[in-house]
Amino acid sequence: MASQKKGRAGKEKILITAALPYANGPLHLGHMVEYVQADIFARVMRLTGEDTAFVCADDTHGAPIEINAAKQGIAPEELIRRYYEEHTRDFSDFLISFDTYYTTNSSENRKYSDFFFNTLKEKGFIYQKMVELTYCEACRRYLPDRYVKGRCPKCDAPDQYGDVCEKCNSTYRTIELKEPYCSTCGNPPSRRTTLHYFFKLSAFSEKLERWLVSNPGLQAEAKNFVMGWISKGLEDWDITRDGPYFGFLIPGETSKYYYVWLDAPIGYIASTEKHCKDAESYWKSEDSMIVHFIGKDIVYFHFLFWPAMLMGVGYNLPDIIKVHGFLTVNGEKMSKSRGTFITARDYLGKENPEFLRFYYASSLGDSMSDVDLDFGDFQAKVNSELVDNIANFAYRVLSFANNNLDSKVGRFSGQDELVEDIEGKIKSVVESYRTFNFRGAVRGILEISTVGNQYFQENKPWHLIRTDRKKCESVVALSANIVKNISILLSPVMPRFCDSLQKQLGLMGAGFNGLDFSLKNHKIAKARIIFTRIEGSPFSVKAFPLSLKVAQILSVDDHPGADRLYVLRISLGEEERQLVAGLKAHYLKDELVGKNIVVVANLKEAVIRGVKSKGMLLAADDGSRLRAIEAPGARPGDPVIVEGFVPGEQEISIEEFMKVRLTTRGRKVVFNGQVLRTEKGDLVANVADSAKVR
Ligand code: 2FM
Ligand code: ZN
Repeated sequence: MASQKKGRAGKEKILITAALPYANGPLHLGHMVEYVQADIFARVMRLTGEDTAFVCADDTHGAPIEINAAKQGIAPEELIRRYYEEHTRDFSDFLISFDTYYTTNSSENRKYSDFFFNTLKEKGFIYQKMVELTYCEACRRYLPDRYVKGRCPKCDAPDQYGDVCEKCNSTYRTIELKEPYCSTCGNPPSRRTTLHYFFKLSAFSEKLERWLVSNPGLQAEAKNFVMGWISKGLEDWDITRDGPYFGFLIPGETSKYYYVWLDAPIGYIASTEKHCKDAESYWKSEDSMIVHFIGKDIVYFHFLFWPAMLMGVGYNLPDIIKVHGFLTVNGEKMSKSRGTFITARDYLGKENPEFLRFYYASSLGDSMSDVDLDFGDFQAKVNSELVDNIANFAYRVLSFANNNLDSKVGRFSGQDELVEDIEGKIKSVVESYRTFNFRGAVRGILEISTVGNQYFQENKPWHLIRTDRKKCESVVALSANIVKNISILLSPVMPRFCDSLQKQLGLMGAGFNGLDFSLKNHKIAKARIIFTRIEGSPFSVKAFPLSLKVAQILSVDDHPGADRLYVLRISLGEEERQLVAGLKAHYLKDELVGKNIVVVANLKEAVIRGVKSKGMLLAADDGSRLRAIEAPGARPGDPVIVEGFVPGEQEISIEEFMKVRLTTRGRKVVFNGQVLRTEKGDLVANVADSAKVR
């Protein structure tokens, strides 16, 4: 039954979603940009009095999850259960206020996925076609894009994935790759044909175009991209994956599954169903408004496939899709080897989550540009804007009232101009929030706090208390009203801090309708300092003198002038080198060729018994055995990662190298308590514990 109340855009209720994170890895600070952005908006809507549902879920299906679980020797259900726990804990600690956080591996999602599939099929939007795919006989599976590599069919660049070339950006099919190999086992794949279901995306071109043009809730930047794709002609979409796969079986099939990108967005609907038991009250009703938050990497799915599917079944289309950019850290892509890949948990172990929320809010506008987390800037912003400006103002006012006015806020008189000025600023902060300009909202709040600070400072209530008590009370009362307004305005960004401020003010859970100057004759609670300045950057990383890289041994020869030495040719990916190694007493030549070893890449070139050697191979010696350190699964040139350290860039001497204490523990290589690894896994040392590595 339709109620009388109409909210945003004349709709009764609003559904907000954030993209569903894969249940296949930890959340990191890049993810958090979106969840913080969506959460701020959801809180703004609630504070405005909108009937708000903010839903999300773990995205649990797909080949990577199935493969990862198999590698760990657990069932995919167990893997996604572990990530569900981890993700929900991270979200809760970052104060993300989902009304429902669900999973795509649910009965609701299966029901809606089948509903979409069956309806689209009945309406003629799904058809079958034979496709040719890469198949690894050794792994006994079809190889999805990310599991097959080879040379780019267009530019010949080596080691490219099966869908897109990172060198020339061209896209292609896995079977087009030159010299393909399975990225799991390294074997060349064969080709197989199989019958797949396709979704007729091409049939929706015109409708999609009309929707794009007429929808004011889509950013122009995103629209331009999508219009470009449409004008090039849309290709139909393969929505099938052959087993082994973790997902929902297609009705009537025994080993064909929905492609994860089919059932993932349907997960928005399943989460809605979980939330209110009647998803159609949002997805098929005129009374609701749907807002998606996504990153710019998944625009194609949300502006083409998803709306076309919704059109096909007769459901509502999203009213707003807010696209944000990527996160860079200190101006660059997050990187494990530079120590700037920070998981949500790493961050929580070091800093206050509200500081990051504040920092992100200060950077987010209504555009798709990237957000940069600069550690220096982060510290400066928190200290000068949050601690020195806002928190300090609140504490000064409230503790003054505690100490001098018996914790009473009286009433203020006059100051019409100041009040008017702040009222204007409050309006524009609220408007900025509603239009996704969070950066503008934060700026406005800081302006209000600055005005408040100045007013308090200039009127010197600490003098007035002795000379003019009435005026002193007035100054404090007006200042306390400013603090109250800040505590409401900032609460979407810093809910816990603002909650605490409101408790100190003797208020609770005020919404935007409490934004006024009506606080008077009111007893406040005890003021307390909520946070202090950040001293030193919490995320600084230390330098590790060595630059260790994975290398593949191409050939092995005897050293012409020394019995115990070999001369190796190695590949570092882009570069080949020659180095001398004392391995002759420990390995036959054939045992070495093809091995993935680790070299100190920044060692000064040396001449060893007349032969040039550039770099040094790492080996572990436990007194009885000497074994080369290996990097299974990694590619030549991959950097070795030591958590919390950035690799050295300068050349070092052998003496400097000898000072670095590397040892072994449980067949792993350890420095300073950290296990050395590549992106593909830990380095391996096949010797006893506590061996010297050099
Ligand atoms: O890109 C991703 O991380 C996907 N898991 C997002 C899915 S969003 C929605 F469509 F389900
Ligand atoms: Zn394989």
